[in-house]
Amino acid sequence: MSVIIRGGTVVNANGRRRADVYCEDGKIKAIGIDLDAPSGAEELDAGGQYVMPGGIDPHTHMQLPFMGTVASEDFYTGTAAGLAGGTTMIIDFVIPNPQQRLMDAYRQWREWSEKSAADYSFHVAVTWWDDSVHADMKTLVEDEGVNSFKHFMAYKGAIMATDEIMYHSFRRALELGAIVTAHAENGELVFQLQKDLLEKGLTGPEAHPLSRPPKVEGEAAHRVIQFADVVGVPVYLVHVSTREALGHITRARSEGARVFGEVLAGHLLIDDSVYRNPDFEYAAAHVMSPPFRPKSHQDALWKGLQSGNLQTTATDHCCFCADQKAMGKGDFTQIPNGTAGIEDRMAVLWTNGVNAGRLTPEEFVAATSANAAQIFNIFPRKGSISVGADADIVVWDPSATKTISKNTHHQNVDFNIFEGMEVTGLASHTLSQGAIAYANGDLRAVNGKGRYVKRPAFHPMFDALTKAARANSPRKG
Ligand code: URP
Ligand code: ZN
Ligand code: ZN
Repeated sequence: MSVIIRGGTVVNANGRRRADVYCEDGKIKAIGIDLDAPSGAEELDAGGQYVMPGGIDPHTHMQLPFMGTVASEDFYTGTAAGLAGGTTMIIDFVIPNPQQRLMDAYRQWREWSEKSAADYSFHVAVTWWDDSVHADMKTLVEDEGVNSFKHFMAYKGAIMATDEIMYHSFRRALELGAIVTAHAENGELVFQLQKDLLEKGLTGPEAHPLSRPPKVEGEAAHRVIQFADVVGVPVYLVHVSTREALGHITRARSEGARVFGEVLAGHLLIDDSVYRNPDFEYAAAHVMSPPFRPKSHQDALWKGLQSGNLQTTATDHCCFCADQKAMGKGDFTQIPNGTAGIEDRMAVLWTNGVNAGRLTPEEFVAATSANAAQIFNIFPRKGSISVGADADIVVWDPSATKTISKNTHHQNVDFNIFEGMEVTGLASHTLSQGAIAYANGDLRAVNGKGRYVKRPAFHPMFDALTKAARANSPRKG
């Protein structure tokens, strides 16, 4: 199967040029002016459009079992919705229960993900510690291509990683050449604040942000950055939502630390007023952690993205329908945490980033695919339009418009946090493995077509870091 994309402007993170792109057998085979293509090749006219790497969403939770229910979007529906919006790869999370073998959880998630329509990979969460975790981390890195381990500093009594767990896991990740990632919120503070609020009779969704104020995130961000620095391992903070956390990242980076930050499309665009809406269904639909923040944080987050102190954009796509959110009626701590966004991330970022003059198209590519590919070590196979790369491509029409709505989205959830937002700049075509998976409203996602993508360990960089860390360690490795 071959496709030739003609007449577009190819945009990579490091520049753009007018060129045709020829794809065959799932790969980009040639890039150039007036390319010849075999007679059977499908022709795609990209005149007036941008030809960019397909989006990589490095933070999703398809069919996640969480807070007594299961996220409504499965690996097929979720990746299909992504393709409709120009996203061609996700990195989802394996989240073992405490005491569950990491390998058992990993196999379970691999089974669930077999129906993915787009390529995918997994971060694996470390939620407890013993010798089996130590052993399974090695198997995951060396045999299964997992190069990132996640630590939830929140969700006390469930999946929270204590300082002790983080210490052991960070050391092991360093030895193995893996990066550590963290959900930075102080789980003890959240737990105590939730109790206080419930005792005061504050039981509705308006209490959710009060139980997780910005300093709760700032404290944990500072702590995890210090932990990673002491151990000597690079760290990636997911869903950075506050000025405080961004400040810690910025400071650490200015001191030479390998600290990376991700921001969600939702945190850039939605503020905390949603929780004060008297309609329970509406307010609960926005309950996610960390919560949406006062507007002033959004300005800081955009600046973080513009300055490069935040490198990636994600969605934390974790869908719960109204009947699931209703589990928390009368007790906000029981509202399943999570919101959707995989289909809309690229369009809302283009509209509010590129069209608003905050990002260039090249910076848009960096923030939506190339940086994630580099940080998680799958570049240039993913995140670039280059010969030999996977033909995961979005043809982007900068003049196309739509109004986002739950009534027209492909996501398997009955709410859209961007409802009513008018966007200009949309995927006209999405190619996944060189095949057209979306064409002007026609979604051709194929159940099971997505492949598991292995991500190699980072040995060259880590060898030097490991040596330096060992030299500083009282236990000498
Ligand atoms: O509220 C959220 N973010 N739900 C998914 C789990 C997580 O914390 O990422
Ligand atoms: Zn999280
Ligand atoms: Zn998440």
